[in-house]
Amino acid sequence: MNKKVLGINSSKRKKNTYKILQDIKEQFAHIGIDMDIINLHDYNIGECMGCENCIIRDKCHINDDVSMIMNKMKEYDGIIIATPIYLNNISGKLKTFFDRTCKWVHRPELIGIPIMNIVTTASSGISSTLKYMNNVSILWGAFPTDNISRKVTTMDIKIKPKEYKNFINHLVMPKKSYKPSLNQLMNFAVFKVLALKVIQTDKEYWEKKGWDNKTYYIDAKINIIKKITVKSFYRMMYKKINKV
Ligand SMILES: Cc1cc2nc3c(=O)[nH]c(=O)nc-3n(C[C@H](O)[C@H](O)[C@H](O)COP(=O)(O)O)c2cc1C
Repeated sequence: MNKKVLGINSSKRKKNTYKILQDIKEQFAHIGIDMDIINLHDYNIGECMGCENCIIRDKCHINDDVSMIMNKMKEYDGIIIATPIYLNNISGKLKTFFDRTCKWVHRPELIGIPIMNIVTTASSGISSTLKYMNNVSILWGAFPTDNISRKVTTMDIKIKPKEYKNFINHLVMPKKSYKPSLNQLMNFAVFKVLALKVIQTDKEYWEKKGWDNKTYYIDAKINIIKKITVKSFYRMMYKKINKV
């Protein structure tokens, strides 16, 4: 298949969460997908300082491994993000990393990259954590596909190919066959308004990408109902948000 994907483990341990990534890596090898796994805990990931320089000036003053990891993510055809559930949410390490990717929320760079999210837990927090993770994928302009979860009681159940089928499909299908959800289209609309009316750095980026007169980042399959809904949503947002 000649595709390469990156798996990101955000547990400090190489146990439940890591094992699932390893299982998937072995299965992917049989279908010609190369998978690299990185452990976020092997890297220096500083906490966001809250200065918003990344958003406003496209600069971050923290000198650590985050930009290297972000650049690495762009080299792959697909990304798998895996986390243990802590207090019904993602691990702190992953949240710290997510916070540092804030510039991608305004000026997305993972356009059309399929993402699969994985959580492991003793028992609770699966759907809310996956919902949040999928939302981050959307904020990045990437494409959330499959979600995989295991509880400690089901950890020994091997991952079945049907659990990652959608992810694989998105790796191979042309981007123009993608069907963005209404949520993805509305997210695009919100950040388009911010780019055109509020943040100059975003405006330049969005215009360079040609997104300023688009409905979505890529030419994709959008049915008429979604088109009409998102158009009126965009108009409403455009009126509501004042020019800066
Ligand atoms: C700090 C901490 C918080 C946790 N919070 C939850 C939780 O809210 N709900 C739950 O069901 N399991 C919780 N767990 C259990 C882990 O999610 C579970 O054991 C997970 O599979 C560990 O993954 P790992 O082996 O990759 O580190 C927690 C574990 C730790 C250490």
